Amino acid sequence: MRIDIITCVPKLLESPFNHSILLRAQTKGIVEIVVHDLRDYAINNHKQVDDYAFGGGAGMVLMIEPIAKCINKLQSERKYDEIIYMTPDGKQFEQKTANRLSLLGNVIILCGHYKGVDERVREKFITLELSVGDYVLSGGELAAAIIVDAVVRLIPNVLSDETSALTDSFQDNLLAPPIYTRPADYEGMKVPEVLLSGHEAKIEEWRTEEALKRTRERRPDLLDSYE
Ligand code: ADE
Repeated sequence: MRIDIITCVPKLLESPFNHSILLRAQTKGIVEIVVHDLRDYAINNHKQVDDYAFGGGAGMVLMIEPIAKCINKLQSERKYDEIIYMTPDGKQFEQKTANRLSLLGNVIILCGHYKGVDERVREKFITLELSVGDYVLSGGELAAAIIVDAVVRLIPNVLSDETSALTDSFQDNLLAPPIYTRPADYEGMKVPEVLLSGHEAKIEEWRTEEALKRTRERRPDLLDSYE
């Protein structure tokens, strides 16, 4: 999978992809993540990529020309399955969207900044608009990092134990059950006996019960679509 991210603040994305699972996925050649500085496509020598909003109002707007130049260049090199725009008024990002995106070949993610992008960018290029929650970030960069992380870990062979993605919270519309590691007794706080029993079927049954209990308590809305 190849993910091209377009941003006017590329430094914000220097770290998230260079550690842990995301770094390993790139080193193994499973995913290629390329960050593009929108200022490389600026309309003038002042590296201008934004301007005041027509009609007035506070905040700058990313212009269509630099974004179009960047997207046109990428599209001339390969075909893209989705061109995603990160925005708080987009569709709420969920596990099932992560699952779908993890099956794609080439994806562009455009990060808004300041007030956002000229509406015509959305009309002309964008195939999917995503929000990571009902709050406003300073830009789409951190939101894009969330999408990339959630998607890339689902691609086969990225996680060393593939089943660990299948047992994540939300994967079957249940929250994950409690987990424990050593010591079995920490200052009198004991790990549930069943987990030490070695009895696989009983452990599985306990985990399902605990997942259901936790979901009922914390996110009863998920149970409506529990599979
Ligand atoms: N950009 C600013 N806020 C955002 C949000 N909540 N989700 C996605 N992109 C954003």
